Amino acid sequence: MYLVIGATAFFGRQAVEELAARSGARVRALTRTPDKADLPASVELVAADLTMPETLPPALAGIEAAFLVLPYGMDVAPLLAAAQAAGVRRLVFLSSGAITGRAEQQPDVIAQYHRDVERAIEASGIEWTFLRVLFPAINSLAFATQLQGGDVVRAPYTRAAVSAVHERDVAAVAARVLVDGGHAGRVYDLTGPESLTAAQQVRILGQELGRPLTVEDLDPAPVLEQMSQFMDAEFLAALFGLMADAVGKPAPVNDVIEQITGRPARTYATWVADHRADFGG
Ligand SMILES: NC(=O)c1ccc[n+]([C@@H]2O[C@H](COP(=O)([O-])OP(=O)(O)OC[C@H]3O[C@@H](n4cnc5c(N)ncnc54)[C@H](OP(=O)(O)O)[C@@H]3O)[C@@H](O)[C@H]2O)c1
Repeated sequence: MYLVIGATAFFGRQAVEELAARSGARVRALTRTPDKADLPASVELVAADLTMPETLPPALAGIEAAFLVLPYGMDVAPLLAAAQAAGVRRLVFLSSGAITGRAEQQPDVIAQYHRDVERAIEASGIEWTFLRVLFPAINSLAFATQLQGGDVVRAPYTRAAVSAVHERDVAAVAARVLVDGGHAGRVYDLTGPESLTAAQQVRILGQELGRPLTVEDLDPAPVLEQMSQFMDAEFLAALFGLMADAVGKPAPVNDVIEQITGRPARTYATWVADHRADFGG
């Protein structure tokens, strides 16, 4: 039996679907609200809350391997204690490409949180595999709200280059690692198949949606100040730092997704086609 945590959001939901589609894979999805989960009928739903340790033992019972998609900042200790007690054999953690190497001290809060979780998992004694993702393609959903009001995307760092990863590819890797095993102690940096700036992404969006989209580059400082009024300021500063670092150089591209899943990583155009409805298409 495989458990997916974060099963109702991106990555986790797709991983549940990937696992459920594999004949013979029994899948359990952890959610605080099973009534709202809307997952395939074959999936076992378990009501549990990562902040309420007493809810976790039934969720972990009988689990061979689990995929951890954790809300940013979530304390992983209660989950690891429950996994150890239940005899879970493998953990696959969706980590962050912001991490540099294996160092304890990381350069920003995003990298630090994810590395702290990785280290806690390493110390648990359970076999682990880390999937590090820097810029998932779902970050482009931020463009969708703007495009409801016109054909211009206004954003800072439009010349930052990223190799955006389709959430389905992350899920496909997670499913293979969960089911196949043989990836213990491996850290995989998952990238998309192409390095694209945000401006190039918007051009592809326009082509796919049949709209004359343009971009306008914004000064990051006032945008950061405004967003910090309603979002975690340290998190945002780290995110803006990562984007600033990505300006003026191509993003790394590798074939890890193809090596593990046997099919090339999906392109950004494919991601847009899969998300046409999110852009009103
Ligand atoms: N966006 C990026 O740039 C990026 C890059 C790399 C990695 N990631 C990773 O992806 C993670 C998830 O991101 P996301 O934005 O898709 O999800 P999210 O909005 O942070 O989390 C939502 C998911 O977490 C579950 N959840 C929230 N609180 C919970 C709790 N107390 N107990 C149990 N489950 C709980 C929700 O399940 P229910 O509501 O059904 O209970 C839902 O499935 C990030 O934290 C990060 O580690 C993101």
